[in-house]
Amino acid sequence: MLSRAKELLQETKEFKAKSLEEVEAFRIKLLGSKGEIKKLFAEFRNVAAEEKKEFGAVLNQLKDQAQQKVDELKADLAGSAAKEVTSSFDFTRPTTLNEIGSRHPISIIKNEIIEIFNRIGFQVSEGPEIEDDWHNFSALNFPPEHPARDMQDTFFVEKDPDIALRTHTSSVQVRVMENSTPPIRTISPGRVYRNEAISARAHCFFHQVEGLYIDKNVSFADLRQTLLYFAQEMFGKETKIRLRPSYFPFTEPSAEMDVSCTICSGKGCNVCKYTGYLEILGCGMVDPNVLENCGIDSKVYSGFAFGMGVERIAQLKYNVNDLRLYSENDKGFLDQFKAAL
Ligand code: DAH
Repeated sequence: MLSRAKELLQETKEFKAKSLEEVEAFRIKLLGSKGEIKKLFAEFRNVAAEEKKEFGAVLNQLKDQAQQKVDELKADLAGSAAKEVTSSFDFTRPTTLNEIGSRHPISIIKNEIIEIFNRIGFQVSEGPEIEDDWHNFSALNFPPEHPARDMQDTFFVEKDPDIALRTHTSSVQVRVMENSTPPIRTISPGRVYRNEAISARAHCFFHQVEGLYIDKNVSFADLRQTLLYFAQEMFGKETKIRLRPSYFPFTEPSAEMDVSCTICSGKGCNVCKYTGYLEILGCGMVDPNVLENCGIDSKVYSGFAFGMGVERIAQLKYNVNDLRLYSENDKGFLDQFKAAL
């Protein structure tokens, strides 16, 4: 009996397990209700009196050590199982970055212009990029011999009758006036095309936003105040505007609007060529001929219109001086507008 107990003690000391199942089998074999240790305790009374003391001591030692072994192995195996999980899911590793894109600067500025005019009741309208002569030229009071109708200035798709890529978003004014009754307050953003050699200062396509307001008693003062509001929302409250007389076939009187220089605030610098002002848009009172061409009674209604280049505003906001950058899709250039989202 004593030697069996000593054998089991030795076995316990040497026991190793690779899995929790092996530990459990060992526990049942030694410590289970029908296990070896129970059996040996049952034999105690049959042990010779002089061996009883040693046998009891060995048996108690065996019971303690077997329990300790089981506890230790269980803890070890549970620990290494946890380690295995963390090693294949290393949460401390840097992640692979999913780079997000950025909005194009032209879209950012276009949306800003739309928002500014939305706040004072202007709604967005759009028209086709391929236009007929009526909407792009004739209805807007361009005389038949006007140089803009020249092949050198306009991309024609078809001749007689003339179909062309629109040269300005003023064509959308005509469509809106033809299809609605005043009061009209609309802005028309869109892409326009001109037969120009591509350079830092000119491109064969660019973007404009057209504005149109038609109602009873609309005056030049309304035009000025609307544009002052726009300039101050776009470039800051301290911005000043200046209207210079100009000429467009579709407005009378016509003007060009300058804003105080966004770089030097009017003091004079090389961006504004020491004039303190930068030209940003054309505008005027809609010519009565245009109103009549579009079915609006010019004796009852009057209105103003304006048109601005989106690239021009973006150039002033972001100090980008080469128009080509807007259409080259250079990632380095575009990434700079992430912060503006
Ligand atoms: N269509 C003109 C251009 O492309 C811009 C313009 C000027 C639009 C005056 C207008 C306006 O509505 O009133 O240069």
